[in-house]
Amino acid sequence: MELELDKPAGLSRLSCRKDMRMKKKIGVIRGDCSSREIVEQTLRVLDALAKKYGHEWEYEPIAMGGDAIDQYGSPLPDHELEKALNCDAVLLGAVGGPKWEGLPGAQRPEKGLLALRKGMGLFSNLRPAKIWPQLADASPLKKEITDRGIDFVIVRELTGGVYFGDHTTTVGEDGVKQALDLMPYDENEIRRIGKVGFETAMKRGKKLTLVDKANVLDTSRLWREVLYDLAKEYPEVDFDVMFVDNCAMQICKNPAQFDTIVTENMFGDILSDEASEITGSIGMIPSSSLGEGTRGLYEPIHGSAPDIAGKNLVNPLACILSAAMMLRYSFGMEQEAADIENGVEAVLNDGFRTADMMSEGMNLVGTREMTDALLAKL
Ligand code: IPM
Ligand code: MG
Repeated sequence: MELELDKPAGLSRLSCRKDMRMKKKIGVIRGDCSSREIVEQTLRVLDALAKKYGHEWEYEPIAMGGDAIDQYGSPLPDHELEKALNCDAVLLGAVGGPKWEGLPGAQRPEKGLLALRKGMGLFSNLRPAKIWPQLADASPLKKEITDRGIDFVIVRELTGGVYFGDHTTTVGEDGVKQALDLMPYDENEIRRIGKVGFETAMKRGKKLTLVDKANVLDTSRLWREVLYDLAKEYPEVDFDVMFVDNCAMQICKNPAQFDTIVTENMFGDILSDEASEITGSIGMIPSSSLGEGTRGLYEPIHGSAPDIAGKNLVNPLACILSAAMMLRYSFGMEQEAADIENGVEAVLNDGFRTADMMSEGMNLVGTREMTDALLAKL
């Protein structure tokens, strides 16, 4: 013990880091179309961090989406879900593409993603919307709005609502087709995500907004009832409610007012795309999906961008930043996560831009070159 204390500070820090070497099993879903490229680049970054910190990653390839349809005829076969359940965390790019578009709903690549979220019990999806000041020029919003800052997070319920209610299409006796999508929520599902909302707000600016459509939907009225009740347990949190249509407008008009938003599955899907766009590029927004434990799924919020697949054009940073969230939330590796985030900041400061976030005077680079620049910062 005394010997430890006698060591120069640098050395004892080093020995401490050595003890923190970890071995983790990471499920890797290559995904479809340009997802392949971003996942490949993200693994380069993870490899570099493993080397730097002495960690060991065991990559478990998992087929999901179009890739799984091609290999097994199903977007998420049981054996692939089983693999995901045996990992410490799962990293994903994105799924879907024109090749599988004609398939019936239940066999589409997206169904694999929904089954994976459900099968892993990932009811809580965090989507940060934070403007990188370096990208403010790429935001479609006026400078006077971006100058006030954008830094909020959407806590999206991920395993309930209309995504998982019954979907049916029938033909009536008169030959008229009718389709029905049900949006069920029970109070327990609402309470557990509501808690995540309040806890997230507590760690941030202590302001929580429930976004709903309580002027029309029963589900929304139940959300309000449950969240007003929960709010009593979090007296420090400034809690308010907002209709989703108004929220869509407020996100462009005055995004600085938001700190933490909690909302049901489909509203969260829609608002998070809008929120990402105002920060400069959807190609920069990572996400984490968690359930009760630490095993999460990490994916960029953007799609598989089939139009630019295989051209070294896609922005790898949202996927790489998703890996940072994985290191932090599933593995507790704060320093390693910060390395990625600081590295991203540094490459943006150096002027590197992929096409999606290009603005005048910047240095346009491809997927690989962006990652090279980031690796040089690690
Ligand atoms: C997302 C995507 C998915 C969703 C699609 C691909 C099913 O848009 O993660 O936001 O709607 O959840
Ligand atoms: Mg979406």
